[in-house]
Amino acid sequence: MRNLVVFASGSGSNFQSIIDAIKNGELNAQITGLVSDRDNIQAIERAQQNRIPVYISNPASFNSQDMYAINLIKKLTEWKTDLIVLAGYLKKIPSSLIEAYPKRILNIHPSLLPKYGGKGFYGIRVHQAVLDAKEKESGCTVHLVTEEFDEGPVLDQIKVPVKPKDSPKDLANRVLKQEHKLYPEVIQNYLSTLN
Ligand code: GRF
Repeated sequence: MRNLVVFASGSGSNFQSIIDAIKNGELNAQITGLVSDRDNIQAIERAQQNRIPVYISNPASFNSQDMYAINLIKKLTEWKTDLIVLAGYLKKIPSSLIEAYPKRILNIHPSLLPKYGGKGFYGIRVHQAVLDAKEKESGCTVHLVTEEFDEGPVLDQIKVPVKPKDSPKDLANRVLKQEHKLYPEVIQNYLSTLN
């Protein structure tokens, strides 16, 4: 059985889709922990409802990125982590953590990367930019995490149409629905490629 550790900073609806896929037998893994940079978020409630241990670690409380990474790695080792799954985690992943888990960190992004990714493209801003550019389609992408924001190799994507009267929220909801389908599938496929 492979161990997943999810990182989240917000509502955690993708976290929930992974929990549900495991319960339904669509994803053969277990979640050994949730890491967050903040308290009082819905993702933590979801963890508590599912008896998943929570670790809150705010990079601002450490003297350096390295100290923050060392502290996280200790927890990830304790949780016997095989794969780190970023699900709406808003803090930068320190280089030493990426080095400690090479090709073992996945992220989901609410656009068709490489479009509308990188610094500043998060949350509703992504969808606003897609609408401003009058794109005909958008979607979501799961990719491996590397040093540069949203630039690691793409594992898979799902496309959705952009409709003429869409608000950013309409588009966000349409994309999010597909994220919930895409992420568990990609995690399952990716785990089957690991030694
Ligand atoms: C998702 O849109 C995801 O693509 C992005 O952050 C959002 C997280 O949403 N990285 P949720 O917390 O999973 O509901």
